[in-house]
Amino acid sequence: MVGSLLWARGLKKQFSSGNEPVSVLQDLSLQLEPGQSLALTGRSGSGKSTLLNILCGLERPDAGSVGVLGETFDTRNPEALKKAEARWGNLRRQQIGVVFQEANLMPALSLLDNVRLRARLAGQDEQDCQDWLERLGIGELANRYPDQVSGGQRQRAALAMVFAMKPALILADEPTGSLDRQTAESVIEQLFELQARHGCGLILATHDPDLASRCNRHLDLGHLPVP
Ligand SMILES: Nc1ncnc2c1ncn2[C@@H]1O[C@H](COP(=O)(O)OP(=O)(O)O)[C@@H](O)[C@H]1O
Ligand SMILES: [Mg+2]
Repeated sequence: MVGSLLWARGLKKQFSSGNEPVSVLQDLSLQLEPGQSLALTGRSGSGKSTLLNILCGLERPDAGSVGVLGETFDTRNPEALKKAEARWGNLRRQQIGVVFQEANLMPALSLLDNVRLRARLAGQDEQDCQDWLERLGIGELANRYPDQVSGGQRQRAALAMVFAMKPALILADEPTGSLDRQTAESVIEQLFELQARHGCGLILATHDPDLASRCNRHLDLGHLPVP
């Protein structure tokens, strides 16, 4: 565990559905070293998004602990966990690039300004932001606002934002779900190329077995949550 980019031990998470508790994660552990990629698979509803949200600190587990980039977040100490949430926020700004299923861009900023803002918050150079948009095939849309482009184009802008951060860890939740096959392949090529070039860690939630097989390791959440 020591020296790992990311580790999780004994994670548990329940939600309630009506009056019934539904157990989504039960004693889940994982580990990721720098430069490694891990595919997270499992049927819809098996807890992939919940796990990614816990790993980046957007959701609290009911039990267990997470270590990311030298910080430890332990549910056994609620006071410390509360303080840790601010540090987790800093990590998400600077070192953890999160790609959600639906791109969340600032609506009042152009695509290019969204990428620039993300680079600036991460302390990175803004020079190559236009270049990231070009590489993702949406360079000519740089001055458009998010509501003036398609869902797939917004998702590519969200990926450009993550690339421009030069993060140590990328958590990607079905990032190509809204893209056509050809665009998805080109985006995935760039994701793996970036990961290899910068040696960052990658956890990729995906339904696609071909895509999962390109990762170094594979964790199947498989089952549906049990009541
Ligand atoms: N905030 C929530 N409140 C209640 N149930 C939730 C919440 N978030 C997720 N769930 C439930 O947890 C299960 C796992 O969801 P999710 O992590 O989104 O799965 P996946 O990403 O693998 O499709 C689903 O049954 C979902 O309905
Ligand atoms: Mg999901």
